[in-house]
Amino acid sequence: MNAPAPAPATTRPPHAPWRTALITGATAGIGLAFADLLARDGVRLVLVARDGDRLAEVAERLCAEHAVAVDTIAADLRTDAGLTLVEARLRATDTPIDLLVNNAGTGTRGAFHTLPVQAELDVVALSAVAVLRLCRAALAPMVERGSGWIVNVSSLAGFQPDPLTATYGAAKAFSLSLSEALYDEVRGSGVRVSALCPSFTATEFHRRAGIDVSRVPPRAWLPAERVAQAGLRAVRRGRPVCVPGAPYRVLAALSTIAPRPLARFGSRLFAGAR
Ligand SMILES: NC(=O)c1ccc[n+]([C@@H]2O[C@H](COP(=O)([O-])OP(=O)(O)OC[C@H]3O[C@@H](n4cnc5c(N)ncnc54)[C@H](OP(=O)(O)O)[C@@H]3O)[C@@H](O)[C@H]2O)c1
Repeated sequence: MNAPAPAPATTRPPHAPWRTALITGATAGIGLAFADLLARDGVRLVLVARDGDRLAEVAERLCAEHAVAVDTIAADLRTDAGLTLVEARLRATDTPIDLLVNNAGTGTRGAFHTLPVQAELDVVALSAVAVLRLCRAALAPMVERGSGWIVNVSSLAGFQPDPLTATYGAAKAFSLSLSEALYDEVRGSGVRVSALCPSFTATEFHRRAGIDVSRVPPRAWLPAERVAQAGLRAVRRGRPVCVPGAPYRVLAALSTIAPRPLARFGSRLFAGAR
């Protein structure tokens, strides 16, 4: 674990209930947007990603711009060693983590039987196994303290089976279902759990995964900051599920109420349009 930036004392502004937040996948896209928003609110941060140099750059910038304490953990969350490092920080009683954002994720696209199995396993490792382990590590001390917030970044893809992104949809369905169940289990304990389920968000995600999005119309894309803002608002208000963007909320509602064969059909149409 590194602490590249000096650690000035942070004060909790009245509108931010959390003092210290840990964000996975915090150097790009939605995770970086969470980090920026929280730093602006004076929240002490612990940022997790694999690339240590990029982590240090982000930490130094946030510290310089917002005078907040920023620690970093360079960890590959597909590995047991990486998860063990982050779990230890979540269990630490010194400056306890009161907001966990499980955001790191990756994707693949193509017919399932043609995709490299390791890439599929990586999707499950980040969007299911890491979410499970980090929720487990964070929740016990949060419930004991009677206070805490967890945002699991799932996806609109988690609402229905997703041909051509089959593993991704299944892994995101896991994180959505886990989040909703945990929301219910800890209700009344002072701990809140929300699933954030964005659709197309302008980040590095699709380029990194080699997914061609040239057919996705510009108006379909949400800015990462808007998505992160919606996630923070949802967990603060105790909403179990947050789908940013009105048209996507309609799609999520339709997927929830539609008979399964119809949901599959709609998803196939949507996949074909991408
Ligand atoms: N973008 C979208 O359209 C969209 C839509 C719905 C849901 N989501 C979900 O939103 C979340 C964030 O995605 P994004 O679009 O912001 O992605 P992104 O721009 O590609 O950023 C991914 C972040 O995760 C980190 N990361 C990747 N693999 C990691 C690993 N093995 N261990 C630790 N950190 C890792 C990356 O840093 P390093 O490479 O340095 O590790 C980076 O900080 C994901 O869960 C994704 O599934 C995205």
